[in-house]
Amino acid sequence: MKSKATPFTNSRFEKQGYTVYELPKDLPFEGAGDALLDREGRWLWAGYGFRSELDSHPYLAKWLNIEVISLRLSDERFYHLDTCFCPLTGGYLLYYPPAFDSYSNKVIEMRVAPEKLIAIEEADAINFACNAVNINKIVVINKVSDLLKKRLTKVGFEIVETPLTEFLKAGGAAKCLTLRVTEPVMADRHETVMVESRTIRMEGHLLDSGLISHALDLVVENGGSFQVLNFKLGEQRQSTSSADVKVSAPSHEIMEEIISLLIDLGAVPPPQEICDANLEPVIQDGVGPDDFYVSTIYPTEVRVNGQWVRVQNQRMDGALAITETPEGITAKCKILRDLKVGEKVVVDVVGIRTIRKAESREQRNSQEFSFMSGSVSSERRVELVVEQVAWELRQIRDRGGKVVVTAGPVVIHTGGSEHLTHLIREGYVQALLGGNAIAVHDMEQSTMGTSLGVDMKRGIAVRGGHRHHLKVINSVRRYGSIAKAVEAGFVTSGVMYECVKNNIPFSLAGSIRDDGPLPDTQMDLVKAQEEYAELLQGADMILMLSSMLHSIGVGNMTPAGVKMVCVDINPAVVTKLSDRGSIESTGVVTDVGLFLSLLVNQLDKLTSRYNVAQTV
Ligand SMILES: NC(=O)c1ccc[n+]([C@@H]2O[C@H](COP(=O)([O-])OP(=O)(O)OC[C@H]3O[C@@H](n4cnc5c(N)ncnc54)[C@H](O)[C@@H]3O)[C@@H](O)[C@H]2O)c1
Repeated sequence: MKSKATPFTNSRFEKQGYTVYELPKDLPFEGAGDALLDREGRWLWAGYGFRSELDSHPYLAKWLNIEVISLRLSDERFYHLDTCFCPLTGGYLLYYPPAFDSYSNKVIEMRVAPEKLIAIEEADAINFACNAVNINKIVVINKVSDLLKKRLTKVGFEIVETPLTEFLKAGGAAKCLTLRVTEPVMADRHETVMVESRTIRMEGHLLDSGLISHALDLVVENGGSFQVLNFKLGEQRQSTSSADVKVSAPSHEIMEEIISLLIDLGAVPPPQEICDANLEPVIQDGVGPDDFYVSTIYPTEVRVNGQWVRVQNQRMDGALAITETPEGITAKCKILRDLKVGEKVVVDVVGIRTIRKAESREQRNSQEFSFMSGSVSSERRVELVVEQVAWELRQIRDRGGKVVVTAGPVVIHTGGSEHLTHLIREGYVQALLGGNAIAVHDMEQSTMGTSLGVDMKRGIAVRGGHRHHLKVINSVRRYGSIAKAVEAGFVTSGVMYECVKNNIPFSLAGSIRDDGPLPDTQMDLVKAQEEYAELLQGADMILMLSSMLHSIGVGNMTPAGVKMVCVDINPAVVTKLSDRGSIESTGVVTDVGLFLSLLVNQLDKLTSRYNVAQTV
C-alpha cells in the first residue's frame, strides 16, 4: 500500500503477487513508521499528526480488513508512531505517554491492561527506546537506562542492547533499520475504524478576516484533520467567499467537540446535509439529557420540524430547551436547574447554527471599538482605550441606553470611589452589580473615612481600622437596608449613596468570605444569579471593574453583542474575559483607580467640547 505511485515499485510488487492500493493524491500515509500491528494481530495502531493524515486510516481499515486505532502524535520529536510506541509480544506495550494527546492516552489505556503498559521516561524516549525490534521474548534496543532494562527483564524479556547513536542522528534506531513483511494477523478480524467525517460550510470574509485559517487551526489543534473540498473565493473587496470542508476526527466524541467549536465560528452543514436538531425529553426537573448541547454567547438558531428557530435568552453554558405548542415552537437558552419535565433539549451538534456578523476588512479597521478586537490593552494603550470608552459611554447615555457596572472593593481601596460616584451622578450608569465588599468598604469610607482600615486621605492604616467595616455592617444591619441607612442620614456620600439617591438598581451577590453580611446582600446564590440576569437584560455595555468573581460570573451570563470592558491589574483575569471571540470585548490591564480617574477626566473634556459646540 502506497501513498504515491512509483510505477516501477508497483509493477515489481504486482509481479510478486501483491495487490497494490494507492491512496488519493495528497493524502499522506508514511507506511510502517505510522502503522504498527498489535503483536497478536488483533488490530492496527495507526499514528497521525505530523507525517500521516488521519483520513488515510479508513483506507487502511478497508484494504487490510482490520480494526484501526488512531493515535495522535503531539510532540514533534516523535514524528512517527514507531519512535514512541512499540507493541511487544504477550500484549505488552512499551511507549512514551507524553508523545500522545490526552484522548489517545485514554484509548491506549482502554486497550492495554495496566500491568502490560510499560511507560518510559523522557531520557529513554529521546534515545528512541521505543524504536526497538521485538522477536518473541527478545528486544533489540539502543542503549537504555538500567531502570527500563530491569522493568523489561522483570516481565520476561531478554534485552539485546546495541549502541545506535549514529542512526539516532537520522531520526531512528533499531526498528527503523528493519522492515517486517510478515506479521501474524488474527484470522477473525473485520474492518473497523473509529474515524468519523462530516462536511461543513463556512461563508463570509474567509480570507480577509482570517476565519478560515482560524477554523482549520481549531480542527487540527483539537485532534482532527481536514480536507478543503471546495473554495469559492469572492473576487471583489466586498464579496464573500465560501468553503466546504471535510472534517475528520478519531472518534464521535472528538468530532462533536470540533463541530461545536466550528458552529461558534458560524459553520453550517452544506444545504444537502441540513437536518433537524436531535431533541431528547427532560425526564427530571433541573437535569438535562447526557449529551446536551452546551450553549455559547453567540446568537443561535435551532432547526425544528424543518424550520430555523431563534434561541431566546442567549447565554453561555446553558441548554437549549424547546417547547412545541399549537401556537408554535420556542427555543430558550436555560441553565440546567431551570429545565422542566415536558421540555425537550437539543442533544448532539446537528441542526444548530450561530449567526455571526460577517467581519469585513472595513469593519475590522473601523475606528469605532477597533481597539476592542478581543484584545488585551497594555499600559501604553490605556489612554486610547479610555478615550474610546468615554466616547461610547457618552453615546449610550445620550440615546437612553444602558450601562451596567460590576465592581469589586478594590475600586474603593484605590480611590476610585469619587470617580464612580461621579459616573452614577452624571447618568452614565444604569445598574450596579457586585458583592458584599464593595458596598461595605464604600460605606466604611463614607462614614469613617477609611477603606479596609486605611485612611483614604493620608494613605495610612488607622489604629483599630480593621474593625471599621464590621462596625459599618452592624450599623446598616440596625437600619435594615442600605436605602434606610441613606434615608436616616447615616450614609451621606459614596457609591451606594448615589445609587439610592439616583434610583440606580443594584444587586449584591453573596460569597463565602462575606462578613455580616449587609442586609441587602443576597446569600441565596440562585436568587442572586437571577437578580444579576435581570439587571443585565438590555445592557449595551458592561464595565467590569476589578472583581474576578463577579466579572467572570457576569461574562458567562452575557450574550455576544454587548460591549464589555474589563479592567483589572491581573492580565490573566482580563484575558479570560476578553477572550470570548467576540469583537466587542476588550481588556485593560491597569490600576482601576487610575482608569476611573482618566475616564472621568475624558468625559468632562467631552462635555466641555459639547458645551462649546452648543454655544457656537
Ligand atoms: N468583608 C467582606 O465581606 C468581603 C471582603 C472581601 C471580599 N468579599 C467578597 O468576596 C468576593 C470576591 O471579592 P473580590 O471581587 O474583591 O475579589 P476577586 O479576587 O474576585 O477580584 C479582585 C480583583 O481585583 C484585581 N485587582 C487588585 N488590585 C487591583 C488594582 N489596583 N486595580 C485593578 N484591579 C485590581 C485582582 O487582580 C482581582 O482580579 C466578593 O463577593 C466580595 O464581595 C467580602
